[in-house]
Amino acid sequence: MNRKLIAGNWKMNGLRADLPTIREVAVAATGQPGAPELLLCVPATLLSEACSIASGSALAVGGQTCHVSEKGAFTGDISAPMLRELGATHVIVGHSERRTGHGESDEIVAGQARTAQKAGLIPIICIGETLEERSAGRTLNIIKGQLSGSLAGLESAANLVIAYEPLWAIGTGKVATPAQIEEVHGFIRSFLKGRFGDAGKGVRILYGGSLNPGNAPEILPIPNVDGGLIGGASLKAADFLAIYATARALSV
Ligand code: PGA
Repeated sequence: MNRKLIAGNWKMNGLRADLPTIREVAVAATGQPGAPELLLCVPATLLSEACSIASGSALAVGGQTCHVSEKGAFTGDISAPMLRELGATHVIVGHSERRTGHGESDEIVAGQARTAQKAGLIPIICIGETLEERSAGRTLNIIKGQLSGSLAGLESAANLVIAYEPLWAIGTGKVATPAQIEEVHGFIRSFLKGRFGDAGKGVRILYGGSLNPGNAPEILPIPNVDGGLIGGASLKAADFLAIYATARALSV
């Protein structure tokens, strides 16, 4: 069983006034051996302060995207080395909101993941099907295509996390059923073993999409669910920490 990772995705939420939430989470993070890892992916504007707050605690801090290139004439973008320099350890790449809102293709996502690894960050590569794709019975094909494309050229499975986030479950309050999650996560695991051999067993596969304290006890124990990527419920320390507590109870 892989050590679980409970990751929050604040998206474009959070001002300085919200820093106490990060402090509350950092204080509750336990570095005990075997305890789940706790991560908050905050807006780039809060990274520096979030890293200072988390320093010395077991809370890790991550970014939400990075450019394919390490530097250059890309106005408004942020690079993997910039995130790393501030103290980030992880970066989300290929979130569906980036894929659809910013035209990030599998090829771009693979480039971002490679640049992230090179900079010493752990990319969290997001994949997931739309409702139309699921209704048409194409879910596993879509997942396979996204995995093949988004992992292109990636050599290391050691510093890699995959997040399965069905698009229809993100921010909607609709959660995939345990059977749907188990099927897709099992499929991702087989793909990773085929792609990386034994090292594919150790890649954490997170579930994301309306995960909250109420459904976490049902979702986190599912085989090949190695944690969660949590949007809305990560904005309130109490909710996020309740999900963390569920993961902790499963780890003992
Ligand atoms: P949600 O978002 O938990 O608000 O559905 C998850 C995500 O988009 O990462």
